[in-house]
Amino acid sequence: MTAQLIDGNALSRQLRSEVAERALALKARGTTPGLAVVLVGDNPASQVYVRNKVKACHEAGLHSVLEQYPAELSETELLARVHALNNDPAIHGILVQLPLPAHIDAQKVIEAISPAKDVDGFHMASAGALMTGMPGFWPCTPYGCMKMLESIGYDLRGKHAVVIGRSNIVGKPMALMLLAQDATVTVCHSRTKDLKAQTLQADVIVAAVGKRNVLTADMVKPGAVVLDVGMNRNDEGKLCGDVDFDGVKAVASHITPVPGGVGPMTITMLLVNTLEAAERSAPH
Ligand code: GUN
Repeated sequence: MTAQLIDGNALSRQLRSEVAERALALKARGTTPGLAVVLVGDNPASQVYVRNKVKACHEAGLHSVLEQYPAELSETELLARVHALNNDPAIHGILVQLPLPAHIDAQKVIEAISPAKDVDGFHMASAGALMTGMPGFWPCTPYGCMKMLESIGYDLRGKHAVVIGRSNIVGKPMALMLLAQDATVTVCHSRTKDLKAQTLQADVIVAAVGKRNVLTADMVKPGAVVLDVGMNRNDEGKLCGDVDFDGVKAVASHITPVPGGVGPMTITMLLVNTLEAAERSAPH
């Protein structure tokens, strides 16, 4: 068996064109959705990410502003910028790119963002909303994974999902989203005793560790669905995920590639969240 690919580029194109349509309709009612992206310092990976986010906004007809500051920016100055953006009616979503320089308390900055504009879904209020099933913004990467499962018509009810990784940005919210769809969820991490024994039980596996070959073919039940959130480089410097793609694709029923899988979906869901934030704020 060779697994079917879940194509994150194709799904992103479809979802982004829906965002563009809804953005046009909102503009006709007098509101242009706007995202502010704040970058502090000159982390090269972050610079690429924020450029891609701003570009995706423009392509979907969303207004975006990129605020770039030197690494020496003080925490007080950054908090003042966040407060100004909270009060800016042209801005519906605020994203402060992580990581921040060590002298800035990232959690303090995240908590300063108005929950109504927290399109990253990192604020405590957003996490609480996800946990309790209340309306709020979902973190973009796990949200994108849920859209990928939806795109193949996958019914999670009663299925066993194994999430590898327990970060606040991916693993933990992923587990809550799968649980909300009635899956039985196991969260594995670096202290898990026998990872293979867990993953072999899984109907759905989400690998979100940030390490190559965390999941190999011998760890996957035939027919399982495998979502790869990893973004790593192999020995030749090529982008690869957490999953041994060539091995696992012979066992799984569906698999996401890297690149072209979960990555583009993360930006897509940022656009969706920004549009939603603007729709919620617009006069009826
Ligand atoms: N750094 C890496 N990924 C992300 C993300 O999704 N949002 C923010 N704000 N920073 C990141």
